Amino acid sequence: MSKPSEAELIHIFKGIPFTTRSSPELLNSLDTFDAREDDVLLVSYPKSGTHWLAGVITKLYTTQVTLTSPIEFGDISKLEELNKLSSKRIIPTHLDYNLLPPNFKNKKCKMIYISRNPKDTAVSMYYYYRDNPNLPTVDTWTAFFDLFIKGDVVCGSWFDHFLSWEEHQNDKNILFLFYEDMKKMKSDTEKENSSPSSTVCSLTSNRKLIFRKGTVGDWKNHFTPKQNRRFEEVFNEKMKLSKMAKSLIYEF
Ligand code: A3P
Repeated sequence: MSKPSEAELIHIFKGIPFTTRSSPELLNSLDTFDAREDDVLLVSYPKSGTHWLAGVITKLYTTQVTLTSPIEFGDISKLEELNKLSSKRIIPTHLDYNLLPPNFKNKKCKMIYISRNPKDTAVSMYYYYRDNPNLPTVDTWTAFFDLFIKGDVVCGSWFDHFLSWEEHQNDKNILFLFYEDMKKMKSDTEKENSSPSSTVCSLTSNRKLIFRKGTVGDWKNHFTPKQNRRFEEVFNEKMKLSKMAKSLIYEF
């Protein structure tokens, strides 16, 4: 079955591609969102380990917490839905720092930013695009690699996303985590809790699409030497002022 056209699946909001599952009305009204001081935000660029992080964080609480779907997914009724929750809210988001509702910043809510080697993120996202009917068609890894480098994918450029958050690395309420090998937790999280058709990501309820390999270094099975050189060039250029990028020991 062929997928709907790109125009039916993607729209651009403030220069960043979003799926039509994030309605323009919702995105426009995020600025009015009522954050609570005890909200916890789980922040990531897609395919960076959001589900792993959600699994870990929700286990830390002994009182009732609600893991919501990402704040930017849904239509305008989303704000009301979140408002109604009486328990503590753990809220995932893929938003760039600049698009985050200002209320979270003013109330100094705790935010955890998770990232992993962007090359592994790119490969993970390729399979996600390929197998998810809610994302545009990509014919080959080569075609997807070019889109990823250009930031022409949902949530925009990995580099810009990371940099927008890194600027706030010294904010006391923001913690940065780097995903290493999650293989050990994969089988547990894959099996446990809720229904087999439940994920944090609103673009799929299919857990097989999320828990793919959960390993570090799968990029080596996909990147050609030329793509690797190109990626490094772009990485070095884009991240030249990034302190965090310098201290990360990504295997290149
Ligand atoms: P791969 O596609 O490389 O396997 P996200 O959770 O942000 O959508 O990211 C999905 C990626 O993180 C997938 O990577 C998936 O395998 C891995 N992942 C997510 N949760 C995991 C968990 N609990 N244990 C192991 N890997 C996990």
